[in-house]
Amino acid sequence: MNARTELDEALAALRRGEAIGLPTETVYGLAADASNAAAVRRIFALKGRPADHPLIVHVAGAEALDDWARDIPPAARTLAAACWPGPLTLILRKQPRVPDEVTGGQPTVGLRCPDHPLALELLRAFGGGLAAPSANRFGHVSPTRAAHVRAEFGEAVPVVLDGGDCAVGIESTILDLSGATPRILRPGMLPRERIEALVGPVEMGVAGDSPRASGTLDAHYAPRTPLLLLPRAALVAEVAEQQALGKRVQALVLGQLPEGVDGLALPASPAGYAHDLYAALRTLDRRGANLLVAERPPESGDWVAIHDRLRRSAAGAGLDAEAT
Ligand code: TXA
Ligand code: MG
Repeated sequence: MNARTELDEALAALRRGEAIGLPTETVYGLAADASNAAAVRRIFALKGRPADHPLIVHVAGAEALDDWARDIPPAARTLAAACWPGPLTLILRKQPRVPDEVTGGQPTVGLRCPDHPLALELLRAFGGGLAAPSANRFGHVSPTRAAHVRAEFGEAVPVVLDGGDCAVGIESTILDLSGATPRILRPGMLPRERIEALVGPVEMGVAGDSPRASGTLDAHYAPRTPLLLLPRAALVAEVAEQQALGKRVQALVLGQLPEGVDGLALPASPAGYAHDLYAALRTLDRRGANLLVAERPPESGDWVAIHDRLRRSAAGAGLDAEAT
């Protein structure tokens, strides 16, 4: 099928109130018409996600801000003008028309304009907003290829737009602008420094009164095989120890695999590592190992979002091993 036919098919499915696989620059989304409550409920059913976890509404550009949000602070306009399309989600006070299904009943809405040519073309043709969480079952590793979406949902999501490998590879930075101080609820590859250069100081992390975000749960983005996070030398020792016990271990390292260690090596740059991380976790998860071990990346600022995902992956890994 050519790209035009696929786009038409995706549009038709959205207009029928169905969910489709949507490529973005971060990860693939499971998208449906954000103004159609029944369509949004289908997303939750497909994902197995708790209904009170809000979804991001994807829009074609900054001009859509006022359709979905109100009392919009100047910082939101500055950031949308400078960073959209791009991996930044803004949490703002919602317009009354935004269905409760989208916001999980919260008074705020998350908005983002994705930097992907197919997604932008679809959004412009659709004319409305697309509610889309990452296209994985709740808690599992996010998809960065069309084939990952098909592996998660099979025939339950027949229309998956193939936009190739996601360029960024991990989810957007979420910035809450609905409170007194701007706050990053989820770090992403759009760094805190870039945001602060545009709008001044922001806080990091979830405060007691912050809106709920499932990407902020302790266990998330997880493979099914148990996963340990270790410095390189400890990783090599752990692999040797496990192998001596007859266990099969797969490693995820930076740069090059050490002697005697099986697994995958990822680029030693944050952008390259983020791009490959989720596909690598899926590949390792399929190898039937007893244990996965990941090398702990450097502590410097540009690795913050990657640390965040690895930590949550390790916390959630293996939790549903019996169930699947
Ligand atoms: O890069 C991304 O953000 C990808 C692509 C598909 O755009 N989407 C994504 O969606 O990661 P999801 O649902 O897996 O994660 C979105 C996060 C969730 O943690 C959700 O709770 C949070 O955004 N979120 C959405 N609306 C919110 C709101 N009104 N207040 C607080 N958090 C919100
Ligand atoms: Mg997700």
